[in-house]
Amino acid sequence: MVTKGASIAILGGSGMLGSDLALACALRGLKATILDLPDFDITNTDQLQQAVNDANIIVNCAAYTNVNKAESEPELAYQVNAEAVGRLGNLARQADMWVLHISTDFVFDGKSQVPYVETDPPNPINTYGASKLAGERLLLESGCHHCIMRVEWTYGSHGNNFVTKLIKRAKAGEKLKVVDDQTGSPTATTDVAKAICSLLPKKPEGIFHFASDGYVNRFDMAKFIFEKLNISADLSSCNTSDFPSPAERPLNSRFDCSKIKSLLDEPIKPWQEALKQFLEQL
Ligand SMILES: NC(=O)c1ccc[n+]([C@@H]2O[C@H](COP(=O)([O-])OP(=O)(O)OC[C@H]3O[C@@H](n4cnc5c(N)ncnc54)[C@H](OP(=O)(O)O)[C@@H]3O)[C@@H](O)[C@H]2O)c1
Repeated sequence: MVTKGASIAILGGSGMLGSDLALACALRGLKATILDLPDFDITNTDQLQQAVNDANIIVNCAAYTNVNKAESEPELAYQVNAEAVGRLGNLARQADMWVLHISTDFVFDGKSQVPYVETDPPNPINTYGASKLAGERLLLESGCHHCIMRVEWTYGSHGNNFVTKLIKRAKAGEKLKVVDDQTGSPTATTDVAKAICSLLPKKPEGIFHFASDGYVNRFDMAKFIFEKLNISADLSSCNTSDFPSPAERPLNSRFDCSKIKSLLDEPIKPWQEALKQFLEQL
């Protein structure tokens, strides 16, 4: 049970997902504390200990999320995404506390031809993915009660993401080339937040995949956005290999979300419905 008096600490609570989770908790009358940089640093053990002391549940949305920059700053990526998560696990075990930790599709190499299930072997192809996988493993090794929720292709109102960047560039009249060989499920952080709130009272253990229903490639997703917003963008498709970037991207980010479905309070929305709602309130 999550009682209304229980205290939930949202690490990374000012980020894109953390902000929507804080709002979702407030809507449900749940007491949530937002912890984020610059006042709270997950790599600071004393601050982490204090967070564990003060809360009944920790939801970790804090992460080093700059995928390209992680290639040149691997130490920082590992400190935030791996070592701090392991330390959080140790402190949570000592306090007999359950932790919900957010992870990513980037733990996979994207070479599978089918949607990924939770038991598929991870094989990250960039530093960000490797650091997030290391965090998952350290959390597991800590022996604390925990749940790892992997999400993908998220967008929201409180951060930079594929959707908002694309709209900004189209409105600025830029020529847009978007890859048509990366496939996944665009997922609203408001829906991830609702899913997290469904899990809080149940405190499930293990790994769960969560994403909107259905799959699309990035180029078709861009077309959908511009059609819905009535923007006549100068848009063309290309391959991932045409876009050299410091970090390699998985081509297949599709999740099989069967495992989490029975724990959710409401059915998972098709990606089109959630994205349309998001675009309407922009
Ligand atoms: N966005 C996606 O497409 C996507 C896909 C799959 C998984 N995820 C995962 O979803 C989770 C939430 O990410 P998001 O999309 O909400 O990204 P985000 O907006 O970058 O949120 C991450 C938050 O963590 C904070 N943070 C970074 N270093 C920290 C530290 N040392 N101590 C405390 N807080 C720190 C960031 O603060 P600053 O902004 O000040 O750095 C930011 O507020 C992460 O676990 C991420 O790996 C995201």
